[in-house]
Amino acid sequence: MKRLLFVAFSGLLTVLFLVALGWDTNRQWNRYQSQFFKTLRPSERRGLSDGIKQIIASDLNRVDRCTTCHVAIDKPALALAQEPFKAHPGQWLVWHPVEKFGCTVCHGGQGLATETKAAHGQVPHWEEPLLQGQFVQASCASCHGNLKDIASHVPMLVKGKRLFEEVGCYGCHTVKERGGTLSQDLTEVGSKPYELIEADFEMMEAPHDRIHWLMTKLKNPRVLNPGVRPEVLPLGEEEVFPSAMPNFGLADEQIRALTVYLLSLTDSDYPASYVVPAVSESTILPASSVERGRLIFEKNGCAGCHGIGGAGGRRNWNAGLGEEVPALLYVKAYYSEAVERLKGLIRNGRQPVPRADPKRPAPGLYMPAWKDKISESELDDLVAYLFSLADELPVSPPSNAASVQTPADG
Ligand code: HEC
Ligand code: HEC
Ligand code: HEC
Ligand code: HEC
Ligand code: HEC
Repeated sequence: MKRLLFVAFSGLLTVLFLVALGWDTNRQWNRYQSQFFKTLRPSERRGLSDGIKQIIASDLNRVDRCTTCHVAIDKPALALAQEPFKAHPGQWLVWHPVEKFGCTVCHGGQGLATETKAAHGQVPHWEEPLLQGQFVQASCASCHGNLKDIASHVPMLVKGKRLFEEVGCYGCHTVKERGGTLSQDLTEVGSKPYELIEADFEMMEAPHDRIHWLMTKLKNPRVLNPGVRPEVLPLGEEEVFPSAMPNFGLADEQIRALTVYLLSLTDSDYPASYVVPAVSESTILPASSVERGRLIFEKNGCAGCHGIGGAGGRRNWNAGLGEEVPALLYVKAYYSEAVERLKGLIRNGRQPVPRADPKRPAPGLYMPAWKDKISESELDDLVAYLFSLADELPVSPPSNAASVQTPADG
């Protein structure tokens, strides 16, 4: 009986062993490697071993096994025409040697994984999605302090940074201690923990990763923050307006550029030998007061609420004046005789904005106070710029564009 048990048991073990062996040689990476090796002549095969490959970039705290499947990434002579057997495009691995940098510093993903989906970060709870194509540009700023040095290699990043100013994101958001405080500080948005994004993920289509989350948000902030309409609420409960963040009507390319920029902001703690420091440059201010004022308008993100060039059109739920933030095209008409009053308004802001319907909630956007951010001499330039906006106008103000000043303002 004992003997029989023993035979049965060792039989079972053998089967298990064979299954495990079959399982192992059937691994994705194993199949890729044998597929690749079959294409090589024996002389080319020499010096190449099979098995899991790993690059230990210990200075960067990373262990990357990507080359287990991407076998020819740094061997152009042996590379094939399809992934994962292609050689790396461009000079990237010459400038950033594989053994020192690995792959994930630039591409994200999951360095230790040996299954395609897991390695590419396409599994739940892995918070670093694979950066490919234009999105790789999001990782360069973690080491290259001065974008100007690498500008020709990172067109999307440069474009995103520029757009962030032009559209006026700084009006409501702070990035690296610059900007407004109406909404979140976006400095770390590129590493916001997924548990805090989970609710948004449930409202959007897959893939549920931070790249697509940011793109969904920028395409139309109201999709992830639609508010609660009064008619679906129990009587007496106050409605919630959709996101106070305006829908900027951005083109897809602009959305990608802004996403690359937002992802690039997160600070890394790479050792000094990997960091190419920024050279501080002195900026030369334009000679004209109006031009200096234009820069101040942009630097502080006034356009975020008032539209590019002060043209208006940004939604402000339940605000008077057509539920929009006022355009600034008529500032000269209203304030040329009241410059001090205008300056006072910019210094101190105005909050809360009067409601169109007193029974509905207060508008989400208000005029912030700028006195801590804009100096008195800058204020003169800003006023000169605001007055210049009228030059492009052929007509006098339409009747519905009344000034926000009331006798109580003074
Ligand atoms: C188990 C094998 C495997 C591993 C490990 C692996 N990859 Fe891949 N990779 C593939 C395959 C297969 C493709 C092509 C098909 C696809 O995208 O799924 C690919 C494609 C890619 C692409 C190009 C995507 C495209 O569509 O052009 C990039 C970039 C990439 N991998 C980066 C990485 C990085 C970075 C790692 C390590 C974190 C990694 N891979 C690890 C198998 C792998
Ligand atoms: C210094 C940053 C950097 C490092 C390190 C790096 N790459 Fe890339 N990789 C890039 C850039 C930039 C591109 C080009 C993207 C483009 O222009 O489409 C690219 C392209 C690729 C592509 C082609 C598909 C695509 O996204 O266009 C693959 C595959 C790839 N890299 C894999 C790897 C692997 C595997 C490693 C590690 C051995 C690695 N890379 C290391 C920056 C890097
Ligand atoms: C982990 C840090 C790190 C990352 C990430 C990184 N780089 Fe680099 N890069 C370096 C270092 C260090 C050098 C070498 C600088 C030197 O030799 O002066 C370098 C060199 C370069 C060079 C060559 C400069 C020259 O004139 O020789 C270029 C171009 C470059 N990087 C662009 C990029 C781009 C674009 C990206 C993003 C796709 C990127 N780097 C990502 C650290 C990094
Ligand atoms: C008029 C004010 C305003 C402007 C201008 C503005 N936002 Fe927002 N933004 C908000 C508000 C309010 C929220 C929070 C409510 C929400 O998430 O819908 C928000 C949320 C976000 C979030 C989500 C942050 C998180 O952690 O959940 C991102 C990302 C974002 N904004 C990016 C941008 C970018 C990029 C721009 C410029 C193109 C911009 N915002 C311009 C008001 C603004
Ligand atoms: C977060 C949104 C927001 C930002 C950013 C913002 N404003 Fe305003 N601003 C408003 C709102 C809302 C009003 C209307 C106030 C009211 O109705 O009480 C307003 C009113 C004004 C007015 C009065 C317009 C009139 O018709 O009387 C001026 C001038 C003005 N803002 C200038 C600026 C300047 C300059 C900046 C940048 C330094 C700026 N604003 C940034 C929201 C903003």
